[in-house]
Amino acid sequence: MEPVKWGIIGAGAIAGSFAEGLSFVRDAELVAVGSRAQDTADKFGEQWDIPHRHDSYEKLARDPDVDVVYVATPNTFHRDNSILCMKAGKAVLCEKPFAMNARQAEQMVACARQEGVFLMEAMWMRFLPAIAKLCDLVEEGAIGELRMVKADFCFRIGWEPQSRWLSPELGGGGLLDVGCYLLSLTSLLLGEPPDDVASLAHIGETGVDEQAAMVLRYPEGQLALLTCAVRANTPHEAVLVGTEGRIRVHHPFWHPSTLTLSAGGKEEIIEAPYEGNGYNYEAEEVIRCLRASEKESETMPLEESLAILRLMDRIRAQWGLTYPSEHD
Ligand SMILES: NC(=O)c1ccc[n+]([C@@H]2O[C@H](COP(=O)([O-])OP(=O)(O)OC[C@H]3O[C@@H](n4cnc5c(N)ncnc54)[C@H](OP(=O)(O)O)[C@@H]3O)[C@@H](O)[C@H]2O)c1
Repeated sequence: MEPVKWGIIGAGAIAGSFAEGLSFVRDAELVAVGSRAQDTADKFGEQWDIPHRHDSYEKLARDPDVDVVYVATPNTFHRDNSILCMKAGKAVLCEKPFAMNARQAEQMVACARQEGVFLMEAMWMRFLPAIAKLCDLVEEGAIGELRMVKADFCFRIGWEPQSRWLSPELGGGGLLDVGCYLLSLTSLLLGEPPDDVASLAHIGETGVDEQAAMVLRYPEGQLALLTCAVRANTPHEAVLVGTEGRIRVHHPFWHPSTLTLSAGGKEEIIEAPYEGNGYNYEAEEVIRCLRASEKESETMPLEESLAILRLMDRIRAQWGLTYPSEHD
């Protein structure tokens, strides 16, 4: 069988990590990259041995050799880049956050359904062995009934107002960048949507959330306590608290290898390392879906990506935070 042929839009940092991840996938071939500039496409193409090097995203989308495109541009471009590719008949794996808001994500999902093509949010955390193990433990009742999730994803980047973390034009701020991992984890564990949300954020000089804290209450009274930031550093851990015990998801909870299960007066360390660099698992899921003619993944369903964005919209509304790109 022919390998599934991948193209990448946007030759930046995560595109390189994903290209490395693809190199661990037996059934994949990275055949094309699209950049805004030819020399960037050429440099990336040389580094990752990619034969087709396009100087525009449009050319990448029209490349007849490409089956599926990985969209790796800043947040504000996810919708348009994904739609460009889907309209050209390509399957799409789009980086997180799936879009700037739920309305944009709905447009992407509508386009996927209209064109009959596969679409998925690149929430790689969900496909990792340790997260699968975590879900199994919760499902099996290893900690009784899950009552609380605590998680933090806060890091401190340098003061570069034009960077994608701080610039409103590129969809900066902690919630969109890393808060989406927190909400995806709680959605995975507790279902959605919470029936109440309380949150506070510090909106910094550039007009994006530099740090934020959220408390979500779910219908059965379960709570999620979450913090995200781009200008403060925290341990990047998650703790699940159940009626009969606890599970600690060790640093970094969004691509963990180790869990500690504390229950029945005992502590068990569970190792569940990932192979490759971790990005290979989401790529394998896309390939599995394409081979099975499935238009979305059961592990990261489109309705759930939409629900998470609706929740992010709701949280941002509490802060009065909007972005320039939301006004079109
Ligand atoms: N899953 C993960 O672990 C993970 C990690 C990091 C980032 N991400 C996500 O991946 C996306 C890209 O992040 P990144 O860290 O790779 O960013 P990056 O290094 O800045 O790369 C983004 C690329 O997008 C293209 N681009 C198009 N329009 C642009 C514009 N106006 N300004 C800057 N770049 C533009 C550029 O590629 P060309 O010059 O080739 O066109 C650029 O190199 C974000 O949505 C982020 O949330 C995910």
